[in-house]
Amino acid sequence: MTDYLTIDNLTKRFGGVAAIDGCTLSLRKGLITGLIGPNGAGKTTLLNLISGMVKPDAGRVSFEGHDITGVAAHRIASLGLVRTFQIVRELSGLTVLESLLLSPGHQMGETVSGALFRRPTVQEQEQHNAIKARRILARIGLWHLADQSASQLSGGQKKLLELARALLLEPKLILLDEPAAGVSPPLLDVIMRLIRELRDEGISFGIVEHDMHLIAELCDDVHVLAEGKMLVSGSFAEVTADPRVVEAYLGMPA
Ligand SMILES: Nc1ncnc2c1ncn2[C@@H]1O[C@H](COP(=O)(O)OP(=O)(O)OP(=O)(O)O)[C@@H](O)[C@H]1O
Ligand SMILES: [Mg+2]
Repeated sequence: MTDYLTIDNLTKRFGGVAAIDGCTLSLRKGLITGLIGPNGAGKTTLLNLISGMVKPDAGRVSFEGHDITGVAAHRIASLGLVRTFQIVRELSGLTVLESLLLSPGHQMGETVSGALFRRPTVQEQEQHNAIKARRILARIGLWHLADQSASQLSGGQKKLLELARALLLEPKLILLDEPAAGVSPPLLDVIMRLIRELRDEGISFGIVEHDMHLIAELCDDVHVLAEGKMLVSGSFAEVTADPRVVEAYLGMPA
């Protein structure tokens, strides 16, 4: 299946500069896809465009056959496409559990059963979300920290919490923006194992990352972005052997 997430000729300009410049690629269902490229290549902008946080100037994005170009982020999330952030949001004053529950969940009454039967009260919904959040915290190994201050988490634990926030939305496809940045090696192993397990359970991933160990270990497909354009696609071995990729990273012919 090749047309799970498709990005067709996408363009986004900031001022006169095209951060994304006629970019075309597709992600395959059930796999982990890596998106790599030098600093400023447009990787985060591409995630912002896919997830509905920034609107493109031209081009099209579709997910599972739905045209999601320019659609609001919460609507895209409700289709099962969620993303995490390169820079983890400030969590001061909240416990780990509270900060997890801040994530925008599904709106009450939107489901078929909600419309047909009695709608859950806000209190019931909150209780349900808290139970679900604790279950996810247990899964990612942060259950014992649920009631501690979120600002005291390590860099890696904050990245895990970002992943938990995505999982709370029951996603089909998760886009991760630099899940390894600022993460200690032991926690990186935990994160990588978790991503692999979730992939085996049917969740698809798109991962933006500079850590080539993570990309090499996890990714089924790798796409290289340079100056807003798709440069090379293939397996990790294929793309890293390509002289155009070496040149893009070094800024000179290989
Ligand atoms: N909101 C914005 N306004 C103006 N320029 C922007 C904006 N967002 C991104 N850019 C520019 O677009 C280009 C691509 O930035 P982007 O953050 O997408 O790169 P990146 O590949 O994620 O880089 P990094 O690996 O450093 O995170 C850069 O030149 C950046 O300065
Ligand atoms: Mg970035």
